[in-house]
Amino acid sequence: MNRPTIRSVVRGTGSCLPARVVGNDEIAGKVETSDEWIAQRTGIRRRHIAGPDETTSTLGLAAARAALADAGLEAEDIDLIVVATATPDYTFPSVATQIQAGLGITRGVAFDVAAVCSGFVFALATAEKFIASGSHSRALVIGAETFSRILDWNDRTTCVLFGDGAGAVVIEAAEGTGTIADRGVLTSHLRSDGRHRTKLYVDGGPSTTGTAGHLRMEGREVFRHAVGMITDVIEDAFAATGLTADDVKWFVPHQANKRIIDASAEKLGIAPEKVVITVQDHGNTSAASIPLALDEARRDGRIRQGDLVLIEAMGGGFTWGSALIRW
Ligand code: ACO
Repeated sequence: MNRPTIRSVVRGTGSCLPARVVGNDEIAGKVETSDEWIAQRTGIRRRHIAGPDETTSTLGLAAARAALADAGLEAEDIDLIVVATATPDYTFPSVATQIQAGLGITRGVAFDVAAVCSGFVFALATAEKFIASGSHSRALVIGAETFSRILDWNDRTTCVLFGDGAGAVVIEAAEGTGTIADRGVLTSHLRSDGRHRTKLYVDGGPSTTGTAGHLRMEGREVFRHAVGMITDVIEDAFAATGLTADDVKWFVPHQANKRIIDASAEKLGIAPEKVVITVQDHGNTSAASIPLALDEARRDGRIRQGDLVLIEAMGGGFTWGSALIRW
């Protein structure tokens, strides 16, 4: 590992949440549930829900603009855009090309990746590999979702869990030494197992029903698999780098459920004060949850240059993944 390596260093972050906030009590006015049940089982208190003029690409574009401003870069500095989403505005074109056009970028390439809640980890790993190959030098990696549009608002077992939003990071090529002292993405690990399709899926699509469909989930089954899959793929990241839970300054997990986050951190031996949690305010925003949490923790001064940040996610497919980033 000790040789000159092109690293992907985070240069800026940004996010965008819809203006409308929906508290648990408002949902309890529509389906048989309560603030107490939702908060106790999931940690969620409120979530942002997109208005009629807000879409995945408008949220993603706003997050991208914020990340560029934070990085002190112009749109033309970007030559790669990778968007993670399971809720695109349209079947095609991709959200990424819409954001590219919105930013006025005409060079480079933009495309979406689909890995549901794991999408941001998959998008970051993809962009990092493009940059490491030398083919591209500065990327916007975006997680953007409007899950409110695919929820069955009469199904209390799912509609209480999700929210809308977008987060973005700018990563850029920088020469590293190939050691774990480098800044940038140090390692990433992606997994999938399609046998679990029916535990978490959408019951429609262009090639089956011709509709967008609604999210369906066997919550207890997802929960049962989540902690093991998450901790396995984090152990892979530690094994690849020789780093340990003690080296991690900030653990920024996918925000699906506080009980899953707490159980994963405990199993890994990561102290609670190192865990960044936003699920109480955002709900599960799928691919947007990690970049939203990264942006929050960076702007409030928690994440600083040089900090070792661990991200992980698990979602529909199943898909799951982890990455270690030195900020
Ligand atoms: N309000 C009140 N009661 C409810 C609600 C609700 N919103 N939802 C379910 N219940 C009831 C059930 O009907 C059930 O009642 P019963 O015992 O009379 O049958 C009871 O509560 C317990 O239901 P469980 O499903 O066993 O509840 P559990 O403790 O497992 O919590 C939850 C459910 C929160 C969904 C949990 O299983 C979970 O978090 N699973 C993981 C889900 C997740 O993280 N998904 C995202 C993955 S990432 C992605 O890709 C989208």
